[in-house]
Formats: sequence, structure tokens, C-alpha cells
Amino acid sequence: MECEPWMNLFLLAILCPLITGAPSSISCPDENLSISGGSFSFSKDGSIVRYNCSEGYYPAIRIRHCIRGKWNPLPKRKQPECKKITCPDPRGFKNGEVYPYQRQYFVNDTTHYSCNSGYDFRGSGTRVCQANGKWSGGTPVCGRNSDHCPDPGIPAGSTRTGHMFNIDDKVTYRCENKLTLIGSKERVCQENGQWSGTEPQCYADFTYDSPEEASEGFSSSLKSNLAVSQQYEGTDQYGKRIRVGNGGKLDIYIALDVSDSIDEEDFEKAKGVIKTLIEKISYYEVSPNYEILIFATDVARIVSMRDFKSGKIFHNLTGTNIAQAYKSILESMQIEQMRNKEEFKKTQHIVIMFSDGQANMGGNPRKWVDQIKDLVKQNTPSEEEENLDLYVFGMGDDVNSEDINDLKTDRGNEKFFFKLKNLDDLQETFDGMIGTSLCFSI
Ligand SMILES: *[C@@H]1O[C@H](CO)[C@@H](O)[C@H](O)[C@H]1NC(C)=O
Ligand SMILES: *[C@@H]1O[C@H](CO)[C@@H](O)[C@H](O)[C@H]1NC(C)=O
Ligand SMILES: *[C@@H]1O[C@H](CO)[C@@H](O)[C@H](O)[C@H]1NC(C)=O
Ligand SMILES: *[C@@H]1O[C@H](CO)[C@@H](O)[C@H](O)[C@H]1NC(C)=O
Repeated sequence: MECEPWMNLFLLAILCPLITGAPSSISCPDENLSISGGSFSFSKDGSIVRYNCSEGYYPAIRIRHCIRGKWNPLPKRKQPECKKITCPDPRGFKNGEVYPYQRQYFVNDTTHYSCNSGYDFRGSGTRVCQANGKWSGGTPVCGRNSDHCPDPGIPAGSTRTGHMFNIDDKVTYRCENKLTLIGSKERVCQENGQWSGTEPQCYADFTYDSPEEASEGFSSSLKSNLAVSQQYEGTDQYGKRIRVGNGGKLDIYIALDVSDSIDEEDFEKAKGVIKTLIEKISYYEVSPNYEILIFATDVARIVSMRDFKSGKIFHNLTGTNIAQAYKSILESMQIEQMRNKEEFKKTQHIVIMFSDGQANMGGNPRKWVDQIKDLVKQNTPSEEEENLDLYVFGMGDDVNSEDINDLKTDRGNEKFFFKLKNLDDLQETFDGMIGTSLCFSI
């Protein structure tokens, strides 16, 4: 496997544009910051204080910013305190029993599920509430096998409307108060006997995916989506190789939002994350083209698609924020489409957004994402083909907005959104992906 010389350029470029633009340090008094039951720490420049709780607890307030000599005021009736993590309510379970039946479930609480007679059990019969606020295993379902699609179940924390499971029947989901629905709000029973979209999950602010969960979900999703438009081409010493079929190409756009809480150490970590991601993708033997954008208040186009393809590397500063990052990607795609319409049609486009969810200036990014979807859709030869995959990796607990859910794909019951606690967990996620390469030894 060959190393791409541009990678080194990119790694140099990635560090430069934003560090120099870091705001000068401002200090706030370190009074009245304590958190009951937890600890706090300052960012290097003293502009941010982060709260931390022991396992099984979460800080009701996670972060505070120093703005013009003052810590941002606390929301009404909220004090820095450590609260017990709860898992979403599993009692929506239908046609069977949940044991024990209690009002709330805390970390390490174990539940058991069984079906009423006449129903078949699917999923996990025993689930444990994990420290990340999620139940272990998969949604338990008691269904009948008499319909075209299997009973899609009721994920913990949600309610479902719709109880007909034949072709074109629709079910819709809602998450209980304060939880955010990630996945498909609506699913339709398809001709192939599968439900459209992705099973919904209800996330609290403190819910995270463990690196293992994210790693498994992302590998599976990437694998199934790369296989959609591409073909297997024999095997060699690396095992099964995936190659772009029918002259198809793969364009990957990576955007990394490092707004606010970023310092030099985080930059090192972000660099490592992207490096590992590209390394892992290289294992699929797909030789993609890359565009890489780093943005905080500004968007830095580290590697542009056009320059990548022509072998030139620049980094340019344009625009601001997450909406702008998607807009930049849209513009690049439009250029690619104009440059070679036929090639564009055969190209699989993957957008991978990393966001800490704090960059919400510049309006709703959704309109740009919708335009990206339209552009690819219009240039897709057939209805069945899916040439666009939108992934979002969220970090920290500001990412839970409903908006994020609109920025990703939901298809084939695969996951396109992952919420990681921090950059270390993100790194661990990609480290955990199967496949190794000796390419990058920096
Ligand atoms: C800290 O809290 C005390 C008591 O609530 C208050 O008198 C004091 O002004 C506070 N200090 C700061 C810097 O906010
Ligand atoms: C947070 O607290 C836990 C347990 O109290 C500790 O193990 C961990 O190192 C702390 N993390 C940070 C970033 O302070
Ligand atoms: C949950 O159980 C594990 C393993 O027994 C233990 O290490 C951990 O401290 C427990 N967590 C809580 C919050 O009780
Ligand atoms: C980036 O900057 C270079 C040189 O400054 C310029 O030639 C190129 O067109 C720019 N690329 C984009 C995508 O703006």
C-alpha cells in the first residue's frame, strides 16, 4: 500500500490556520465554581471550566465560559451538581413484561424481558443500564410473524404510533420529554420486508456512544454503503478487497468543527483522529478523493476536492461555522458536477462531519444539506441507487439538537450519527475499526 505524499502536507496545514487566530487569554475569578459531588478543571488559557463527575453521574452543567472577566451566568434553577445517570424508560415494551418494573433505572440496573403467549421474542432478553446512559444489547420485541415486516419494536424512551406492519404501512416515533430522537422518526414497511430508515434511539444530554458502539456502528455502516455501488474484486493477501465498480469513484468530504473549546492539545488530537480515519478507510482499498475542511469561526479548506484531483494542495480561509462548512462542500460538489457530469453520476459521495455542536451561527445548515441531497439525487442514474452518505460525529453534550438529526442519512438500519464524549473517545472509535495499515508512522 502506498503512502500519499499529500497527507504530510495536510498534516502540516491542519495545525497552522487556527492556532494563530486563538483569542488572547482572559481570566475570570475562580470563586464559586465548585460542584457538589464532582470536580472541575480549567482549559489551558483559563477561558473554560469543565465539570466532571464520577462514573454513574453526570454534571448538570458541563462547561462554563469566561466572557469579559465573568463566568457566563447559570441557567435558572440550575446549579453545578452531579446527578445520577438514568437510562431511557424501557416500560413502553409491548406484548410482554419488563422486570423489575420501576419508575427510574440507574447505572448497573438490570432488566429482563419476556413475551405473552402467542408472541415471539427478538432482541436482548436481559439489558443492563450502562454508564453512558444506554441499555446494553438490542431493543427487545415481542411480535407475531404474520405480517410482511417484523414488528419494529418500541425503543426504550420512545412511544410508537402505528401497529400495522404490511407493505407501505407507516409507524412514527416520539421520545419522551427531554430526550432527543436520533434515527428515523418515521419508518415505512418496504416491499423487501425491511423497515425504511434506522431504528430510533432516545438520547439524553448526558447519553454518549461508547467508542466500541461507535466503532462497530460506523464500520458496519461504511461497509454496507461502500458495497452499495461497488463490487468485490477477488481476494489477495489483505483479504477481501472492495473496488469501485463500473468506473465509479469515491469522493469523501471531511469537515471538522473545532469551535470554542479547542486548544493546541486538542488540535494534536484532531489531527490524530483524521489521520486514523483516513488510514482506516484506506483499508477498504477504495482510493477515494478527499476534501478536508477545518472550521471554528472560519472554515479552512485544508484540501480541496479540485486540488486533490489535480494534485495541488492549498488551504483557504472562507466563511464561518457549520452551515458554511456544508455550503463549502456543496460548492465543491457543484464544481465537480460541472467539471465532469458523467463521472459525477458514477461517484459515491461521503460527507463526514465532526461537530461539537456549539457552532450554530450562520443559520441552519439544513438548507445546504438539502441542496447537497438534491444535487446528488438529480445526478443519480436510477431511483434505487444511493450515492450520498452523510455522517455526523458529535462530541460533547451540545450536539443533541434535533437539527443534527436532519444532517445525516438514515438508511438500511445503519447508523450515521455517533455521539462521543470527547476527542479521546473519537480517536478510540477509529482505532477500534477493523483493519490495519502501516502507512502512517508520523
Ligand atoms: C460567590 O458567592 C457569594 C455568596 O453567594 C457571593 O457573595 C460572592 O459575590 C460570589 N463571588 C463571585 C465572584 O461571584
Ligand atoms: C473525572 O472524574 C473521574 C472520577 O472521579 C476521574 O477518573 C477522571 O480522571 C476525571 N476526568 C477529568 C477530565 O478530570
Ligand atoms: C457498575 O458495576 C461495575 C462492575 O461491577 C462497577 O465497577 C461500577 O462501579 C458500577 N457503577 C455504578 C455507578 O454503580
Ligand atoms: C485556494 O487558494 C489558492 C491560492 O491562494 C487558489 O488558487 C485556489 O483557487 C483556492 N481554492 C479554493 C477552493 O478557494
